[in-house]
Amino acid sequence: MVETTISVIKADIGSLAGHVIVPDFLLELARKSLKEGVEKKIINDFHVSHAGDDLELIMTHNKGEGNPEVHRLAWDTFIKGTELARKNKIYAAGQDMLADTFSGNVKGMGPGSAEMTFEERPSEPVVVFMADKTEPGAYNLPLYKIYADPFNTAGLVIDPNLHDGFIFVIQDVIKQVPCFISMKTPEESYDLLALLGSTGRYTIKKVYRRDGMVTASVSTDKLHAIAGKYVGKDDPVAIVRAHSGLPAMGEVLEAFTLPHLVAGWMRGSHTGPLLPVGLKDSRCTRFDGPPRVVALGFQVSNGMLVGPVDLFDDVAFDISRQRGMKVADYLRRQGPFQPHRLSEEEMEYTTLPKVMARCENRFVNEEIVPKGKETEKKKKSSSVE
Ligand code: F6R
Ligand code: MG
Ligand code: MG
Repeated sequence: MVETTISVIKADIGSLAGHVIVPDFLLELARKSLKEGVEKKIINDFHVSHAGDDLELIMTHNKGEGNPEVHRLAWDTFIKGTELARKNKIYAAGQDMLADTFSGNVKGMGPGSAEMTFEERPSEPVVVFMADKTEPGAYNLPLYKIYADPFNTAGLVIDPNLHDGFIFVIQDVIKQVPCFISMKTPEESYDLLALLGSTGRYTIKKVYRRDGMVTASVSTDKLHAIAGKYVGKDDPVAIVRAHSGLPAMGEVLEAFTLPHLVAGWMRGSHTGPLLPVGLKDSRCTRFDGPPRVVALGFQVSNGMLVGPVDLFDDVAFDISRQRGMKVADYLRRQGPFQPHRLSEEEMEYTTLPKVMARCENRFVNEEIVPKGKETEKKKKSSSVE
């Protein structure tokens, strides 16, 4: 049986009116470029979309993960898009294109990618999550809930196919070399949570059912690790298969109803709620956010994509969005203070260290008393005593 691969490759190559939304002309360019990819038989099918200012290429093919032809198609699409973006002087044109020349795979070159290869089941429902203004660890909490929390996923209790649990593959994204660990649920849940709670460091890469069936894949690419400085947040994508012995689509989506707090938002430097939104609201405005996630549902059918359905574009998520905006409003009142602003360590790759450097030489080893009338008076009166 031929295996199908879904490759979601994304990049911020420029946006309208600041870091807000991908302009239509870039979406059109990407559709044209991927259509040529179909004609050249590099890919079977595609869907072009956007998460805020990130251009998202969702592709199916039979070439497996990390395939140079597929990755080059995405890279060339982003290069052509960057040229057009620069010509039209849209904002941050070519932002994520960190390498000069393509070297076989977009990994380590700026764009982010999540890929998954499987034998299609008789019916294959999948969802592609696309987030803006946040980092890959943003998926840790919902993925844990989907695969390991029976209060989220009824099937963990009710369905014998899910009952045995799942295997999580986690990446230490701080390490410069590939570094992975795998953990089993339910028996290693506490150890797993000890890692997953450190969302800036340990990121879920893939999730498998206990029989080895792959069920989730996340883009773990860290832009600052590649560039050595802040160049926008990673704005990660994730692919999740649903139903027939896996969590149902409704159980997958349920995990995004909190909405939980993630790192990112303005200047990649703030904590904010991850709002589940429909495509019509996939644009970050207030304080460049709050961070958002879109969910596009497809059926994968003989290597082709049927759909999408815009899954969060539903009244059922209104309550989550409202709750999220209340949290956002509350956090904003705290301005530059932690924990709304991220910790100093987490700000390492932002522009904050440059400001800090200016203060560094001014620290002395005794308390400073400023000169002035009041301090002079105090000095005199204490010498009389
Ligand atoms: C976050 C993001 C924005 C920018 C901010 C400043 O990922 O892209 O919040 O960091 O708008 O942008 P510049 O530095 O381009 O003026
Ligand atoms: Mg941007
Ligand atoms: Mg973005």
